[in-house]
Amino acid sequence: MPQLIQTTGGVGDGPRQRIVDGLLTQGFAVEPAYLSPTLVRALRREVHNRDQRGEFSEAAIGRHANLQQNEFVRRDRTLWLDGSTLAQLRLLEELEQLRVEINRTLFLGLFDLEAHFALYPPGGFYKRHLDAFRGDNPRVVSVVLYLNPRWRPDHGGCLRVWPHPDAVTPVLDVAPRAGTLVCFLSERIPHEVLAAHADRISIAGWFRRNEGSVPWSAPLL
Ligand code: OGA
Ligand code: MN
Repeated sequence: MPQLIQTTGGVGDGPRQRIVDGLLTQGFAVEPAYLSPTLVRALRREVHNRDQRGEFSEAAIGRHANLQQNEFVRRDRTLWLDGSTLAQLRLLEELEQLRVEINRTLFLGLFDLEAHFALYPPGGFYKRHLDAFRGDNPRVVSVVLYLNPRWRPDHGGCLRVWPHPDAVTPVLDVAPRAGTLVCFLSERIPHEVLAAHADRISIAGWFRRNEGSVPWSAPLL
């Protein structure tokens, strides 16, 4: 019997295919062991080092003119990924493969990624929000990765997820355990970071469509 080798196409059952399936069928997906413990450790070490050097800043909400700091909406501090370390490059390579897979299957035209480290101190939270509103910004697919190795239920800090923009009842609370990835449609899925009772580290990233000033992207009506 010849061995059946699946190369491309078809429904696979690897982590990336499961994420694509989740995006397609419910608008979100959770993968508990997406990152290796080695990569998690390296990224966590980088966060601690750079935070000690004072490189993180208080998180802001909104874009450009609307940019503001609002301690009632979120309380965390962030640092943009810049590809300056080996750990970041490994992560970015991982996410690049996910981007390509999503485009190959869902034709979302994801063009690039922006991402930041986020540190929620005890008492940190981020109230229910959407990552993008139609036309407001180019974020299409959100990814969140967690770097917390010994997270316990009493540490709180879950990511609460609602199934659609108007939903009142949440579908899911995701514990921010090391290695877990959550992926969702930025304009469709409201989410909230519940108050954390221990230091909580995440990486939030957004796959964006091309926002270039090409004529067909900005009709003057
Ligand atoms: C965000 C966000 C979730 C998290 O930064 O927009 O929703 O768990 N982050 O850090
Ligand atoms: Mn968000």
